[in-house]
Amino acid sequence: MKNKIFLAGNWKMNKNITGSLCFIDEFHEMTEQEDFFGKNREKIKVVLFPQIVNMYALNQRIRDLEIPVLLGVQNIHWERSGAFTGENSSCSVRDAGAELALVGHSERRHLFGETNEMTSKKYTACFECGLRPILCVGETEEEKSRGMTEKILSSQVRSIFDPDGPTEAKEEIIIAYEPVWAIGTGKSATSDDAAGSCDFIREILGEIVGEMRSIAATILYGGSVNSSNALSFIEKDGINGLLVGGASLDPLEFMGIARACTCNVT
Ligand code: PGA
Repeated sequence: MKNKIFLAGNWKMNKNITGSLCFIDEFHEMTEQEDFFGKNREKIKVVLFPQIVNMYALNQRIRDLEIPVLLGVQNIHWERSGAFTGENSSCSVRDAGAELALVGHSERRHLFGETNEMTSKKYTACFECGLRPILCVGETEEEKSRGMTEKILSSQVRSIFDPDGPTEAKEEIIIAYEPVWAIGTGKSATSDDAAGSCDFIREILGEIVGEMRSIAATILYGGSVNSSNALSFIEKDGINGLLVGGASLDPLEFMGIARACTCNVT
């Protein structure tokens, strides 16, 4: 049994404004029908990561419906403002309604060449305007087959926490373990392997920020999570929630995952 479960839905480059609003209307209707948040408000925290262009409209609808769903962005730039064509700063996305930001998602690292150094700057920039970062880490298939998983996870986590960085960066830490080979492939990690890597991440964190903060950290699993396998991850002690991609696009499927998340919570 554990405390609040964190459920994040990463919509990636999917859904326009109409599609985003339809999703939240349908999800809201389902939650109302079974009084889901009435019964589980203290057990689960739900966050959606739409495309930024949909953020403002979606935020308005969430307020109108009074549904306890937070919004986040999939990426930010590390500068506050300036000549960075095509980028979004943490302060402007905060203004549009985002409360969280994914940093270092594997698609940013592998499709757009983001390094640990860039990820670290983005992580720190989140705190300038009160965004909460979710640091994404994970090994590729090749790294896994060469037995390098722990080495990769360790360097990805260690590169983020600058000893001279803001204190907030070392508090209320959220990290998503997402093996690259499991993302969008339908081939999730086994729950034992996922839990093993999440425990390892917590151990590394303990060395960097101290045991108290590492115990309090929220560690998520992501990679081909769906309504059928969600519970197997949530049942593991060291896994505090899920980061869901493909299966978060369908309100029915996402609702199934949300139900699974509340099964094992005190
Ligand atoms: P997936 O994506 O659930 O479609 O594997 C997860 C993610 O990219 O966060």
